[in-house]
Amino acid sequence: MKISQLDLKAQLNPIREDLLRAITEVVDSTQYILGPQVSELEEKVAAYCGVKFGIGVSSGTDALLVVLMALEVGPGDLVLTTPYSFFATAGVVVRCQAKPLLVDINRDTYNLDPGAVRKALEALPAADRKRVKAILPVHLYGQSTDMNPLMDVATEYGIPVIEDGAQAIGAGYDYQGKTVKIGSIGLAGCFSFFPSKNLGGLGDGGMVVTNDKEFADKVRILRVHGAKPKYYHSFIGGNFRLDTLQAAALLVKLPHLEAWHAGRRARAEYYDRHLAGIPGLTTPKVAVQREHHIYNQYVIFAPKRDELHQYLGDKGISTAIYYPVPFHLQPCFKDLGYRKGDFPASEAAAEHTLALPIYSELTTEQQDYIIGAIREYYNA
Ligand SMILES: Cc1ncc(COP(=O)(O)O)c(C=O)c1O
Repeated sequence: MKISQLDLKAQLNPIREDLLRAITEVVDSTQYILGPQVSELEEKVAAYCGVKFGIGVSSGTDALLVVLMALEVGPGDLVLTTPYSFFATAGVVVRCQAKPLLVDINRDTYNLDPGAVRKALEALPAADRKRVKAILPVHLYGQSTDMNPLMDVATEYGIPVIEDGAQAIGAGYDYQGKTVKIGSIGLAGCFSFFPSKNLGGLGDGGMVVTNDKEFADKVRILRVHGAKPKYYHSFIGGNFRLDTLQAAALLVKLPHLEAWHAGRRARAEYYDRHLAGIPGLTTPKVAVQREHHIYNQYVIFAPKRDELHQYLGDKGISTAIYYPVPFHLQPCFKDLGYRKGDFPASEAAAEHTLALPIYSELTTEQQDYIIGAIREYYNA
């Protein structure tokens, strides 16, 4: 049997005709830049997330970048974030000529540890604390960071929180006694529509969501080179626009999103049940309620991870290693001055985690084959 880590073809087949129709409509309209589908998607995604404003942008990376630009993060500033995420999370900070202030993750959830955040801020001299212009938690693999204590500490120190929700659109969280969607908790949320995300386009795309009108207006202006009106520039922005074609495709997919989340959740539960009891192997901890997790990835913590990865590959099962090198050990960030051993939970995750195939079209037969192969590998 051959099983890919993600099977986009399986998702495509039932919606292919709708996608082609939506694309044809855009092609015929010739409104390729900021056409009506972009604002329709912005309204629908904002409503889905329970926020007032959505601004469609060119990628998840650009969503983060434009938000930091709107906050005027610059030389000498710090942005507190996790060492264990996709490169973009820290990359955008350095592109603004600021410095990532890294704080370790929680070992169970792989998300930024709010207790460690508090300690890190307390340990900073007051002058340095003033330089922290944002806290940037990542809702990794589709599960929310523990936002209640994180928002408490951020509010205490008056630091805006930007949620990197690239992997977690639609994930829920019980915030101050009310169930909300991530992206609506901090000042702004950033999403990616990279094809492998739960809501994936036919190429790159992203969105910023916020309840703050002034902030939304500024992001919208920065998206078009900081111009308002056209050719009059109060700020220096960039070309961060979401293509009309991508918006049209995403509008076709959005109504299916909840069903796709549910499909992933059911498959995660199946893995949980059938992988239980293998010595040393840990299935993903559900720190929120199960229905809040959208399982963009199903990531196990596995002894002899690299050998398991190879073993499964030889059996035709493709798995992925997210992320083999935490930020503080990346060659391009060596000037930040961090060393091996600084963030033990992130280093352990980088060494031991493995993402198994997960998508709502994955069959029980395929899952049984994967589970069988893992049990065989561990003689369990
Ligand atoms: C956590 C995280 N942040 C940011 C990004 C960047 O998104 P994009 O690939 O759309 O630029 C990604 C995407 O892969 C991500 O997983």
